[in-house]
Amino acid sequence: MDKIVVSGGRRLSGEVEVSGSKNAALPILIASLLTDEPCTFEHVPELVDIRTALKLLKGLGVKVEQDKPGSVTLQARGVDKLEASYDLVKTMRASFLVLGPLLARFGEALVSTPGGCAIGARPVNLHMKGLAEMGAEIDLVHGYVAAKAKKLKGTKIYLDSPSVGATENLMMAAALAEGTTVIENAAQEPEIQDLADVLTKMGAKVAGAGTAIVRIEGARRLGGVKHRVIPDRIEAGSLMVAAAVAGGDVLIRGVRADHLDAFLLKLREAGVELEIEGDQVRVKGDGVKSVDVSTLPYPGFPTDLQAQMMVLMSVADGVSVITENIFENRFMHALELIRMGADIRLEGNRAVVKGVKSLSGANVMATDLRASMSLILAGLVANGYTEIARVYHLDRGYERVEKKLGALGADIKRVAS
Ligand code: EPZ
Repeated sequence: MDKIVVSGGRRLSGEVEVSGSKNAALPILIASLLTDEPCTFEHVPELVDIRTALKLLKGLGVKVEQDKPGSVTLQARGVDKLEASYDLVKTMRASFLVLGPLLARFGEALVSTPGGCAIGARPVNLHMKGLAEMGAEIDLVHGYVAAKAKKLKGTKIYLDSPSVGATENLMMAAALAEGTTVIENAAQEPEIQDLADVLTKMGAKVAGAGTAIVRIEGARRLGGVKHRVIPDRIEAGSLMVAAAVAGGDVLIRGVRADHLDAFLLKLREAGVELEIEGDQVRVKGDGVKSVDVSTLPYPGFPTDLQAQMMVLMSVADGVSVITENIFENRFMHALELIRMGADIRLEGNRAVVKGVKSLSGANVMATDLRASMSLILAGLVANGYTEIARVYHLDRGYERVEKKLGALGADIKRVAS
């Protein structure tokens, strides 16, 4: 298993390009199941999770062509299998998003439930409840969801919590359902809006994506699509924290700053200098002060940037209270940061972070995707060497991050072990 070794203390400077969004690309690739025509997507990041999604789709009988870097064409004409195995779904829980499209297009599906993961139980009850309200017969047998529906019917669905995945699964199912589906308390993330753009281009009528009420008028059939995936707002935010925590002056290109309002306001409140110009953000970091952070569904502060913000706060001037409201176990990176000298006190879903003068490099272990990035960020500013193990977590969601940070002046390398 590869390790990443960072030698801290180097300031960052230069320019870096943000990749396409993992969390937009995953549902969008899966939406190709809704039509038998070719779907071409650009700006698709080269990540382990993307490769897993393409393997899953190929296994269902979807034709997959990757003619140039970042571009993929899928055609679900010869789908001959309606099952997503436990092995694949447990590897990547977003595989569960095939349930809605398979059910809507083929009338049945057998999809393993994803089970929990490091950051929480992550149930899928809202996905199943919504599909049942659209008329599907849903049974849970041997850990699999067995679903059947002659024809899904549009209806009004209320989500008890604004689940991103449930909103995506139900939007895709509704795109081929009879009549209109209204999803109330829908997730509002930019990734939902990007999926809505794709479904609209395929022939569905989608209104309200990005707000709490999404209305989808189902079509009898959907056509092919060409679409460029939005930039990855979480990678962009992670790179901004890198510049802020290491100090320096970095230009981040290909960013949708409007997808990061809450996060950018918090960085500014902490004293990070930001110049936003079109799709570029210039970040100048030289010492920050502590601010409080509470993660919330979009447009609130993103839970996927909580670990990265904790690193910045661990070397800020003052005391910061970080509250994690989305997942029940998303502070595992704190335990590793404490080993690097951070002063963090965990109290349930709150972390009280008292800024310290400096962190010290150590051998640490990644526990989940965003935690692995936070340990690299800590290594950038720590004295001495930080060796991060289990970087397979990192490769799920960041495209060549050690190359990107290295090009900005960081002393970072990947060591095969
Ligand atoms: C998506 O996960 C993202 N993943 C996550 O990013 C992100 O952290 C999360 O949304 C929240 O923004 C992808 O888009 C592939 P949810 P998802 O359903 O859809 C509860 C990363 O680092 N819930 O919005 O699984 C659930 O327990 C990953 O890139 C139910 O109770 O998130 C959780 O507490 C990590 N019942 C909360 O909602 C359900 O049926 C948010 O989950 C579904 C969810």
